Amino acid sequence: MRKQVIAGNWKMNMTPSKAVVLAKEIKEKNTAKDKCDIVICVPAIDIPAVYEIVKGTNIKLGAQNVHFAPSGAFTGELSVEMLNESGVEYVIIGHSERRQYFGETDQSVNKRVTAALEGGLKVILCVGELLEEREAGKTTQVVDTQTREALKGISASALKNLIIAYEPVWAIGTGKVATPEQADEVCGIIRNIIADLYSKSAADEFIIQYGGSMNAKNAKELLAMPNIDGGLIGGASLKSDDFTVIIDSAQ
Ligand code: PGA
Repeated sequence: MRKQVIAGNWKMNMTPSKAVVLAKEIKEKNTAKDKCDIVICVPAIDIPAVYEIVKGTNIKLGAQNVHFAPSGAFTGELSVEMLNESGVEYVIIGHSERRQYFGETDQSVNKRVTAALEGGLKVILCVGELLEEREAGKTTQVVDTQTREALKGISASALKNLIIAYEPVWAIGTGKVATPEQADEVCGIIRNIIADLYSKSAADEFIIQYGGSMNAKNAKELLAMPNIDGGLIGGASLKSDDFTVIIDSAQ
């Protein structure tokens, strides 16, 4: 059975002092224990402070991006080694905001995924279509290309450290959530791609999250769908009560 993973993506929110307050609240309110895995992906500058709060608990620390080079002249970037040394276990790669606003491509995403997995980080790889792509009937094609390109050269043994988050771009931060059926359908398509690239048993064990306006009200229904194994939550992860309800909604 797949254990669900509930991950918060704080994006560019929470100064270090605010991050401490939020992380403490999440820790105190969390009663899920072993029911699901919990991750909070915080801004880089918050990592040291949040690490002190969550270390030794069942809340895992995540970053929001990582560079593929081990070190060097890459102003503004962070390396796998830096994240590892700071107690980070997870990293989001290929978020649509990185693709849209910061020029991430399928190729750069593949390099980052490769480096992160090789360095022992767990990766949450984001894929998903734009509204115009969905309306043009291209959802499957877009998700297929993004997934296959990102996974080029990734071995079957590395899959246990990889999660794919299906995040339709039109649902991110818009309040326009995909219906459980829409979300489940594309998560199922992704599972079939994993089966095709690796094996049926690899696909059966593989964790696929849904992300895009998941909140305290709609989480239960989304998380009950057969192909949805968790959530990547933006806005609602910034409110400890809402995030706690989502954690408690995990199956
Ligand atoms: P949202 O963001 O929950 O605010 O829609 C999700 C995400 O971008 O990961």
